Amino acid sequence: MKRMGPLLALALAGAAPAAALESGELGALLAQCAACHGSDGVAKDVEIPNLKGQHDRYIVEQLRNFRSGKRKSAEMHHESRHLTDEEIEALAQYFSQMPH
Ligand code: HEC
Repeated sequence: MKRMGPLLALALAGAAPAAALESGELGALLAQCAACHGSDGVAKDVEIPNLKGQHDRYIVEQLRNFRSGKRKSAEMHHESRHLTDEEIEALAQYFSQMPH
């Protein structure tokens, strides 16, 4: 079995006070984000922004803009198109509260 990244492990342990999501749901979403943004919120690829410690309001705004297409990114439109507002809030809280 693949070792859990610290980001996923934290999420599963409930270290991040998530907004109203089903248990396990945030962890599943974070596992998707980790593929590009890194399991610790720090991206390995220079073309992908780090999310660790980013302001929660900023993350919410960007995810809504990707979802609507106002901010153009084929990858992030694809990633955000099914996210609910609650999921966006929970993801933003999680990344903004990662210790840095
Ligand atoms: C397939 C790779 C990929 C995945 C998976 C992915 N992202 Fe992204 N993300 C990107 C890229 C590339 C950008 C830069 C987009 C641009 O502006 O061109 C980005 C940008 C962002 C930004 C804007 C950051 C900034 O500094 O403006 C946020 C917020 C974000 N992603 C959140 C997420 C979240 C939350 C998830 C999981 C639900 C996720 N991403 C999954 C590739 C990915």
